[in-house]
Amino acid sequence: MHAHLTPVGSAGTSGTPSRSTDLDDDACPARPTLTPASPRTTVVGGGSPAAPAVSSPAAAFASAGRSAFSTAPAVDASAFDTVPDRRGTASLKWDFAAERGRPEDVLPLWVADMDHATAPAVTSALLWRTRHGIFGYSEPDDAYNAALTGWFSRRYGWRVEAAWNTVTPGVVPALALAVRALTAPGEAVLIEEPVYYPFREVVEDNGRTVAAVPLVRDADGVYRRDLAALEATIEATGSRLLLLCNPHNPVGRVWSRDELAALDEVAARHGVVVVADEIHADLALPGFATTPFASLSEQTAARTITCTSPSKSFNLAGLQVANILIADERLRGAFRRELAATGYSQPNVLGLTACRAAYEGGEAWLDALREHIAAARAHVEARLERIEGIEATPCEGTYLLWLDCSGFLEAAGLEPAELDDVMLHEAGLWLDDGRIFGAGGEGFTRINVACPRATLDAALDRLEAAVTAVTARAAEAARRGRVALSA
Ligand SMILES: Cc1ncc(COP(=O)(O)O)c(C=O)c1O
Repeated sequence: MHAHLTPVGSAGTSGTPSRSTDLDDDACPARPTLTPASPRTTVVGGGSPAAPAVSSPAAAFASAGRSAFSTAPAVDASAFDTVPDRRGTASLKWDFAAERGRPEDVLPLWVADMDHATAPAVTSALLWRTRHGIFGYSEPDDAYNAALTGWFSRRYGWRVEAAWNTVTPGVVPALALAVRALTAPGEAVLIEEPVYYPFREVVEDNGRTVAAVPLVRDADGVYRRDLAALEATIEATGSRLLLLCNPHNPVGRVWSRDELAALDEVAARHGVVVVADEIHADLALPGFATTPFASLSEQTAARTITCTSPSKSFNLAGLQVANILIADERLRGAFRRELAATGYSQPNVLGLTACRAAYEGGEAWLDALREHIAAARAHVEARLERIEGIEATPCEGTYLLWLDCSGFLEAAGLEPAELDDVMLHEAGLWLDDGRIFGAGGEGFTRINVACPRATLDAALDRLEAAVTAVTARAAEAARRGRVALSA
């Protein structure tokens, strides 16, 4: 049995609605340390004995003078090294290898979700909300809005207004909606490749044209934007929409304020609206800080759609909540009309609960996670020194490492198209092949390091053994070839 799937306990199934907000139940280990002073059951109608009893989680917490969500349990960093058993949880990462044509026993370090339980503050709030037992239509309320605006103000010094926000089931749907709202079929949309592959998909799947501008890798392996190429592409295609990845998946750049300001200058001059995918913003590694593109200036905000979510940083992708921040009324209206046309209206209440809890009570946990990821990245880099021909691109943010395997491919006499097969069948690793990220991805692979150290070491052991074996086989074949030629 998976520990995190253990039923919450008998209180949640007591069948007594008025007990559903009982916060003193031991079966909820991570619950806020909160003992509401007032009764949890109130009576409608001024205490008339005939009136029905109602229970209100919000009232219970309000009576204690604080929010359920902001009581953050102490951070236990050792939890990041606890190996979870995710099989049998309908996990895309762990349960669907065969369906996706991969060997059953492959070690998955591909899709961007973490093998870490979310922040205890989030689990606690979800348990609390779940035990209420009623999951009707829900909307972001004042408390949610305060958590959201507080997060961006505290973490980024960016003052956002709750009115700017539209909740969507994800960032990728929001990218697609923005493309549909702001361009006509056939028009060009700018992306910078290599990039998270849905950037291309949301353009092409909606009948628009991709105008791809290559990111340039300098001598140190650091990726930079080629502004001249971007401007030339804008002029050549007439594109008025750019999908920006900030921080960048997969190349790991946390774009600096100066780099973003330079991009903004070009975008402003050409009337280009920027859709900034900032889903990885919270995951700038220690020593780096994400600058929200729209925070550069009011003018910048007026031509930006910012796509945010706690789903990467708090591992909540399955709860499907993203906050799309649009300061400009006209852009916001266009975006919301497109969303309304899909028939979607109210968001997932557990997603809202989790997001609020993360933003109210998850800050210390997130900072501990960032340290864990930085250590994982350094560990991979150190171990790669023993693995000939594979190098990690300098990484400033995200928990994804972009590995340059060109040296290995050359030594093994392999083509980039063969890399994924080697990873799958020789190393037993399910990674994301660089080619799916578009031009510039050939010879690279992306590895997700957001896992316990034991998992990471198992993956690196497999990688080292496979690279050594494949390279040795190639060397042996070459030697035999030379002997045969000279015989
Ligand atoms: C840059 C980027 N945007 C969006 C997503 C996915 O967003 P969502 O699951 O909210 O659609 C990912 C997931 O890896 C990502 O890396």
